Amino acid sequence: MNRTPGGPAPAPPPSPARPDHPTLPGELRWRHPRGADQARVLAVLDDWWGGFGGEAGSRQRALLLPRLFFQHFADTSVFGEAADGRLTAFLIGFRSAAQPDAAYIHFVGVDPALRRRGVAAGLYRWFFAQAAAGGARRVDAITSPGNAASVAFHTALGFRIIPGQRTADVDVQTDYDGPGLHRVAFTRPLTPADTAPAAPS
Ligand SMILES: CC(C)(COP(=O)(O)OP(=O)(O)OC[C@H]1O[C@@H](n2cnc3c(N)ncnc32)[C@H](O)[C@@H]1OP(=O)(O)O)[C@@H](O)C(=O)NCCC(=O)NCCS
Repeated sequence: MNRTPGGPAPAPPPSPARPDHPTLPGELRWRHPRGADQARVLAVLDDWWGGFGGEAGSRQRALLLPRLFFQHFADTSVFGEAADGRLTAFLIGFRSAAQPDAAYIHFVGVDPALRRRGVAAGLYRWFFAQAAAGGARRVDAITSPGNAASVAFHTALGFRIIPGQRTADVDVQTDYDGPGLHRVAFTRPLTPADTAPAAPS
């Protein structure tokens, strides 16, 4: 866009609002994501997922996070940075357009150096609170069979595994995302208590 010489400078791009919430660990900085954050997330996926699923897993993960999530679901997603700007954690989620009582968490990841400190639980509680306040009554999510940490995490957060084909570890939805793309499906009800969670101790 041309600017008249001496005219007003173009407005800076809007800075994403801060999703303040007592469950978001206070020593980290939180904001909603923007389109340019997609590349930063893609850059850490293989490391943060520990190479889970090999090359095929790597390709699938990258394809599951197109830029549109960072643009069009920003207000229901959250992005964490350390004081030096390093990416620390992210959650991509949204309210269902077709099912007003449902919200969906699509992706979550935490820097391996920050695991088991309640970071992902804090992100989920933030998501539960804003989804419940917006009228959702349940949150759905899926994960890959074999991702034991993810299954344990979701179970710890109160998600129920939807019955499917029994395997040694967990019930699986066969071919859920396409031929050979099996998934574990979770659901968790939202209650009024989710709208006002206590600050972490
Ligand atoms: C799954 C993941 C997001 C959990 O993040 P986190 O910040 O370490 O999780 P929290 O500290 O909030 O864990 C909350 C509870 O979940 C359970 N949990 C989390 N990670 C676990 C693990 N590796 N093994 C067993 N239980 C686990 C525990 O009950 C934990 O509470 P505790 O530490 O008091 O025992 C993280 O391991 C990760 O980023 N993994 C790679 C990406 C991934 O698989 N994402 C999910 C699929 S999209």
